[in-house]
Amino acid sequence: MEIKAWNFVLFSCLSVSFLASSSSAQTCRSQTFSNNMQYANCTDLPVLNSYLHWTYNQSDGTVEIAFRHTGTTSSQWSAWGINPIGPRMVGTQALVALVNSSGVAQAFTTSINSFGPPMQPTALSFPVPSLSATFENNEMTIFAVLRIPQNLSSTSQVWQEGPVSNGQIQPHSTTGPNVQSAGSINFLTGQ
Ligand SMILES: *[C@@H]1O[C@H](CO)[C@@H](O)[C@H](O)[C@H]1NC(C)=O
Ligand SMILES: *[C@@H]1O[C@H](CO)[C@@H](O)[C@H](O)[C@H]1NC(C)=O
Ligand SMILES: *[C@@H]1O[C@H](CO)[C@@H](O)[C@H](O)[C@H]1NC(C)=O
Ligand SMILES: *[C@@H]1O[C@H](CO)[C@@H](O)[C@H](O)[C@H]1NC(C)=O
Repeated sequence: MEIKAWNFVLFSCLSVSFLASSSSAQTCRSQTFSNNMQYANCTDLPVLNSYLHWTYNQSDGTVEIAFRHTGTTSSQWSAWGINPIGPRMVGTQALVALVNSSGVAQAFTTSINSFGPPMQPTALSFPVPSLSATFENNEMTIFAVLRIPQNLSSTSQVWQEGPVSNGQIQPHSTTGPNVQSAGSINFLTGQ
C-alpha cells in the first residue's frame, strides 16, 4: 500500500513537471538576436539544430523571419525556404547564407529547380525586400522579410546545411537528418 502511494506521488510529480516543461521547453523561446529583433512566433525545427522565428502581418502579407542554425562552422552553408509545392527540395524558394571569402556572413536568394541546383543568386517567386545574415558563436542567422501571397500563409518549409569549399557551396549529405529537414508551416497559427 505504502509503495503504491509513493509511486502515485512520484508519478504525479513527474507528469506535472513534464507538462510544465513541455509548454516552455522550446529552445527558440530563449534565443535572442544581437540586433534586438523580436518575433511573435518561433518553432524548434526537428533536425539540424535549426529554429525559425517569425512575425506575420496578414494585412500586408509580409513575414519577418529569422532562421537560426546553431552548432555550425564558417565552412558550412545554411539555408531555409518555403516550398509552395510540398515538403521537398525541388521548388524551394530558398534563403542561403555562408561565410564568404572576406570572412563575412553573406545571404542570397535562390530558387531550387533541380536536384543539382547551381546555388547562384536568383529571384524568388515572391519579393524579398530585406535579407541579411550574421555568423556569431558558431550560429548562422538569416534575417529576411518575405512578401508572400495569401495562399502561402500555410505552406511547406525546407531547411538544409552543407559544406563550403574554397568559397563554393558544395552538395549536402543525402542521408539522415539532411533528408528529414522539411515540414509544414502555418505563419498565421504558428502550427
Ligand atoms: C503567434 O503570434 C501571435 C501574434 O503575437 C500570437 O497571437 C499567437 O498566440 C502566437 N502563436 C503562437 C503559437 O505562439
Ligand atoms: C501590418 O501592415 C500594415 C500595412 O503595412 C501596417 O499598417 C500595420 O501597422 C502592420 N501591423 C503590424 C502589427 O505591424
Ligand atoms: C497562389 O496564388 C498565386 C496568385 O496570387 C498563384 O500564382 C499561385 O499559383 C498560387 N500558389 C499556390 C501554391 O496555390
Ligand atoms: C562578402 O559579403 C559581404 C556582405 O554581403 C559583402 O559586402 C562582400 O562584398 C562579400 N565579399 C565577397 C568576396 O564576396
